[in-house]
Amino acid sequence: MKTYLVTGGAGFIGSNFVIYMLNKYNDVRIINIDSLTYAGNLENLKSVENNPNYEFIQVDICDKDAVNAIFEKNDIDYVVNFAAESHVDRSIENPEIFVQTNVLGTLTLLCAAKKAWSVGDDVYKDGVKYLQVSTDEVYGSLGPDGYFLETTPLDPHSPYSSSKASADLVVKAYFDTYKFPMNITRCSNNYGPFQFPEKLIPLMINNALSHKDLPIYGDGMQIRDWLFVEDHCKAIDMVIRDGKLGEVYNVGGHNERPNVKIVETIIDYIENNVDDSVGSHLIKYVEDRKGHDRRYGIAPDKIKKDLGWYPETTFEVGIQKTIKWYLDNRDWMQNVTSGEYQKYYEKMYSKK
Ligand code: NAD
Ligand code: DAU
Repeated sequence: MKTYLVTGGAGFIGSNFVIYMLNKYNDVRIINIDSLTYAGNLENLKSVENNPNYEFIQVDICDKDAVNAIFEKNDIDYVVNFAAESHVDRSIENPEIFVQTNVLGTLTLLCAAKKAWSVGDDVYKDGVKYLQVSTDEVYGSLGPDGYFLETTPLDPHSPYSSSKASADLVVKAYFDTYKFPMNITRCSNNYGPFQFPEKLIPLMINNALSHKDLPIYGDGMQIRDWLFVEDHCKAIDMVIRDGKLGEVYNVGGHNERPNVKIVETIIDYIENNVDDSVGSHLIKYVEDRKGHDRRYGIAPDKIKKDLGWYPETTFEVGIQKTIKWYLDNRDWMQNVTSGEYQKYYEKMYSKK
């Protein structure tokens, strides 16, 4: 039985990954460490909390002693590092915590894993691996043509993406310097259940259902490349199992859409299926995000060719599943939008 140390498993993608793995395999053990910031929510993990192969421990990945103690007490085979501050708008307001968690937290995990896994000078226990969950945002912004390849130079623009790019470089340095067994995945925008409603898709669903303005930044023609979260989980699982050590793998499903089209899709679904008083009159064009990247587009050819990964959920199916999930889980939305979110939302959108 392999033991996975998953960090940030109470967040959006991390919780989907924990559920995906425990549903797919009977012979994996998952230890989920998460500091439970505003974005971490143990409600996401209700369906697996009593699974004997699952354990949650509240730990900050920047806490060296606590992280070392986890490695001392457990025979960890794989680390999957999801833990991060993940929201670009928050990074523009408050960059420090992004460098703290995303860069120094990553370094803390690398140090602890290297110490626990070393069996000689730059020699590690058989089969262990560290996977850094990174993002396409490290590549910067594209013009109308071309795609991000694994070889595209890093050119991040926001404090968030620069902290993720910095972390990637530290992980790579561990491979180059110490032959530390690692992979990096760089995925495009995810959507699906349990995404915190500061992000475009759940924010628009939540606002439409409550007849609030749907705030589109700038001209709304920025392009993101959307992937259903389970397809990202599948890619991470495959990279941990079969990824060649030291390699970076891009993950994306060639599903580029301008933001305004995403918002129109959500409006159409809700107007036709839930509430016919919802409509495009709710759209409000607001001040643009500072340093807003214009277009992301991932070339996933390497992971497809080398590991046989492919996305299983089309956007048309995935977006319907996602909207239905939020409709069926209004209590979840109610819980996460009370408290801190309320203050965040007012501060963020009252000035726009
Ligand atoms: P999220 O904000 O929903 O979840 C982040 C989780 O990390 C939360 O549970 C939070 O409590 C935890 N966390 C934050 N700081 C921590 C710390 N110091 N110690 C321990 N736990 C901490 O984020 P997400 O959207 O699920 O993203 C997960 C990872 O995937 C991030 O590394 C992000 O950069 C990357 N990623 C996200 C997307 C996307 O579209 N959301 C796409 C590609 C890559
Ligand atoms: O590309 C991967 C990245 O995708 C991840 O690394 C990040 O963690 C994740 O947050 C996401 O970043 P984005 O900035 O692309 O996601 P966000 O949902 O914040 O915004 C998507 C697009 O929608 C972006 O162009 C900004 C725009 N937007 C967003 C919000 C919240 C709006 O127009 N209005 C909004 O209210």
